[in-house]
Amino acid sequence: MSILFRQLFDYETWTYTYLVACPHTGEAILIDTVREQVERDLGLVKELGLKLKYVLDTHVHADHVTASGLLRERTSALVGVGKPGGVACADLQLEDGQELSYGRHVLRVIATPGHTNTCMSFYTEGRVFTGDVLFVRDCGRTDFQEGSNEKMFESVTVKLFGLPEETMVYPGHDYKGHMASSIGEEKRLNPKLGGGKTFEEFRAKMAEMKLGPPKKLHIAVPANLKCGLE
Ligand SMILES: [Fe+2]
Repeated sequence: MSILFRQLFDYETWTYTYLVACPHTGEAILIDTVREQVERDLGLVKELGLKLKYVLDTHVHADHVTASGLLRERTSALVGVGKPGGVACADLQLEDGQELSYGRHVLRVIATPGHTNTCMSFYTEGRVFTGDVLFVRDCGRTDFQEGSNEKMFESVTVKLFGLPEETMVYPGHDYKGHMASSIGEEKRLNPKLGGGKTFEEFRAKMAEMKLGPPKKLHIAVPANLKCGLE
């Protein structure tokens, strides 16, 4: 049974937003929205005749502000974020194994800490939305927001790589123009975590990364703790 699926992009922050919906009932879920794109997302939901049921964030983002609070004000959607994030304004404190239904379909929450301690991946109908944990041929940074190399390694190599190889991977961002991958492809080809890398090899690769703080860190994190309504 196929779902309605759209991948949307924010040029300013390189963020992918995803829409999944049940074509029979019109119930829909938005994943990782961007506040500046609220009209685009609401417009698409309306054009397609969908009913927005949930607005989910894979984690408390440091690089953009979520549109979750605005979308909740303007629809009847419920906001969901991982429980460890302590986002008090969220209606759903998401936990590992939790299942959210939309029409005839189910989205399953998979706790994948590592980039932050809040990170959740979302699996539905052969697709996994990996936020800033697993990227196409890369993974998210682990050097702030309770990031952890140990947790990242386990989340990716055990939990995500344990999904069926044909599962399509949809990341939270991409900086090189890639849009999607598959679990089998990343298991073989991911330069940090694929090809049977040991934890020591992974840690050495992460130590080579030299990244400045995200541009919006001090704006985005406090705003996202208030569902973007700050
Ligand atoms: Fe992030």
